Amino acid sequence: MSVATPPPPTAVGADLIEADGLVKTYRISRPPRDVLRGISLRVKNGEFVAIMGASGSGKSTLLYTLGGLEPPDAGTVRIDGVDLFSTSDSQRSQFRRDRIGFVFQTYNLIPSMTAAENVALPLRLRNESSLPLGGNRIRRRDVDDRVRAVMNQLNLHGLQGHGPDQISGGEQQRVAIARALVAAPALLLADEPTGNLDWTTSHELMSLLSRLVRTDRQTTVVVTHEASIAAYAERVLIMSDGQIVDEVRLSHMPATDEAIPDPAPLVARLRALGL
Ligand SMILES: Nc1ncnc2c1ncn2[C@@H]1O[C@H](COP(=O)(O)OP(=O)(O)OP(=O)(O)O)[C@@H](O)[C@H]1O
Ligand SMILES: [Mg+2]
Repeated sequence: MSVATPPPPTAVGADLIEADGLVKTYRISRPPRDVLRGISLRVKNGEFVAIMGASGSGKSTLLYTLGGLEPPDAGTVRIDGVDLFSTSDSQRSQFRRDRIGFVFQTYNLIPSMTAAENVALPLRLRNESSLPLGGNRIRRRDVDDRVRAVMNQLNLHGLQGHGPDQISGGEQQRVAIARALVAAPALLLADEPTGNLDWTTSHELMSLLSRLVRTDRQTTVVVTHEASIAAYAERVLIMSDGQIVDEVRLSHMPATDEAIPDPAPLVARLRALGL
């Protein structure tokens, strides 16, 4: 199977994420801190969801739990029907590598590699892990084609040979998103992806992400504490003190890449909640 062909996708509109009863307590804190206090949620295939909330409300912990990076003390996470925390560590790592793309506030690119090499990394790692078994390797030419395609999609043409220190913050974050998407994951998870970017670059990045959702139905969950960033999503989950306390559906999706969505309805709801 070519890498550009992901496993058979969950039908658009079916639940891709099913999380139930998530509880997480950090006991090293004194007193122990309940960071997730019974969270259940669904995200549909092809949906664009944002998670908002004050600093310390548990947004990152929830995102890492949904992505299989942070095991909960209780509760389950199913992605595309796979119960993440009932599989072995190595199965979970493999599932994460093949089906989930992560993007962080600090782009986490490898400085000694070019932009294109950073983007290609997940495919190279997949090839290396398939080595002992032979077969299922992605041909060099297919890797190059896929890297080129995903970099073009993120407006990175011409920057393939640049190192991370030779491109801007916005370009580095787009390289990080290209790397997260290169293996055609079922799910893209982003933790404060615009946290280090200026206003214009943040909105350019968000309109690129919403274009991916519109054109590829790329299921995406973005954590942010900014209403103007969350307003790009179709649905916003609002967290407070380890719980989801409200959910706001936004009817608009920006019709064009230039349109900046109006955060006013979201801000009004946050004010009403006293957040
Ligand atoms: N590894 C850890 N060990 C102990 N406590 C932790 C750990 N990670 C997070 N916490 C605590 O859990 C709480 C929630 O953290 P989390 O990072 O999920 O919040 P957040 O909503 O993402 O905040 P921010 O907006 O500042 O990023 C915080 O009080 C934090 O100090
Ligand atoms: Mg956080």
